[in-house]
Amino acid sequence: MPTNLHAWEPLAEQALDAATFGYIAGGAGDERTLRDNSAAFGRLRLVPRMLRGTAGGVDASTTVLGAELASPIMVAPFAYQGAFHPDGEAATAAAAAALGLCMCLSTLANTSMEDVAAASGGGVRWFQLYPMADQALNDEMIARAEAAGYRAVIVTVDLPPYGVRERELHHPFALPADLGLPCIPEKSAAAGSPTPVQTTEMMKLDLDWSDIAAWASRWNLPLVVKGVLSPEDAALALEHGARGVIVSNHGGRQLDTTIATIDALPRVCAAVADRAEVFLDGGVRRGTDVVKALALGARAVLIGRPAAYGLAVAGRDGASAVLAQLISETENALALCGCRTVAEACSALIAPET
Ligand SMILES: Cc1cc2nc3c(=O)[nH]c(=O)nc-3n(C[C@H](O)[C@H](O)[C@H](O)COP(=O)(O)O)c2cc1C
Repeated sequence: MPTNLHAWEPLAEQALDAATFGYIAGGAGDERTLRDNSAAFGRLRLVPRMLRGTAGGVDASTTVLGAELASPIMVAPFAYQGAFHPDGEAATAAAAAALGLCMCLSTLANTSMEDVAAASGGGVRWFQLYPMADQALNDEMIARAEAAGYRAVIVTVDLPPYGVRERELHHPFALPADLGLPCIPEKSAAAGSPTPVQTTEMMKLDLDWSDIAAWASRWNLPLVVKGVLSPEDAALALEHGARGVIVSNHGGRQLDTTIATIDALPRVCAAVADRAEVFLDGGVRRGTDVVKALALGARAVLIGRPAAYGLAVAGRDGASAVLAQLISETENALALCGCRTVAEACSALIAPET
C-alpha cells in the first residue's frame, strides 16, 4: 500500500495507457503552474504551538455551506472517471461518502448524477457545471442536480478555451466509445468518442458576470465560482450572488505560469472578508498543505489528481485509501501545530517571509 499521495502517481502510470495517464497528469505549456502549485506549499514554513492538549487527537470536522464534513477535504470535480476505472464516479463518490467528505461531480462525468447520488447514499455532493451554450440545458442540469440531492452548484470559469496541454498533443486522449456523458442532456452531448477539446465546443463561450448573477438568483442551489485567482474577481463573484469561490488554476491545466493557488489565497480571502466561503485546490498533497490552506483562510481544500490515481489503481478502495491518507495526515499536522479544531488553524501558524 502506498504510504503517501505522491506514491499513487507511478502506480497509476502503470495501470493506465499513455494517453489516459497523460490526460490526468499533464498541465499546460511548460507545466510551471502544475509544479508550482505544490512547490509553493513547500516554500511556506509552519510555526507550531506547543502544550495545547492535542497529543491525544483533534477534531478536524467542519462545515461547507452548512453541510458537515469529517475533515476539510473535498474531491475536486474531474471528468471522465469511467475512463480511469470501470466503476468511475460511483466508486469515487462512495469512497468520499464513507469517509464523511464531499464529492464534487463534473458535468463531464461518465456516470449520471442520479447513479452517483445512489452510490454515495447520504454523502455530501456538489455538482460542477460547465455552462452550455443552450441555456435551457443549464436549467435542466441544475434541476436534476437539485432533485438528486446535490447541495451546491460549482460554475467553473477558467475553461473554455482549453489549455495547451502538450502531453495530449503527443498522446491524444479521447473518451472511449462505450462511455457517455449522462449528466449532459442527450440532445447536446458530443457524439462518438469526443476529445476533451471537442467537448468544450458545446460550452458557452461568452460567459460573463451577468450570467452568474442570473443563475445565482434563478437557481435554488448556492452557487460557487471555481477558477478565481484575482481578489477583484472574488469580490465580483460575491457582488453577483456567489456564496463561495474556489481559488483554482485548474491544477495548472489551463493558463501556464499563473500564480500558485496557495500564493493567491491570502489576497482572495482579504477581498472576501468572511462574506462567503473560500476554497482552494491545486497541488494539495500533504496534511501540512491542508493546514497551510486553512491557516491562510480556506474553508476546505479539494484534491484532483491523487483521487484520480487512487481510482485508477484500485477503484473505490484506491480512492478511499488516498482520501484516508490525507485525512490522517491532516489530523496529525493539526495536532503537531497545536490546533484542537480547524478553527484554530490561523495565520500565525505561517512563518513571515524573511
Ligand atoms: C483529469 C482531470 C480532469 C478534470 N476535469 C475537470 C472538470 O471536469 N471540471 C472542473 O471544474 N475541473 C476539472 N479539473 C480540475 C480539478 O477540478 C482541480 O481544479 C485540479 O485537479 C486541482 O489540482 P490537483 O489535481 O493538483 O489536485 C480536472 C482535473 C483533472 C486532473
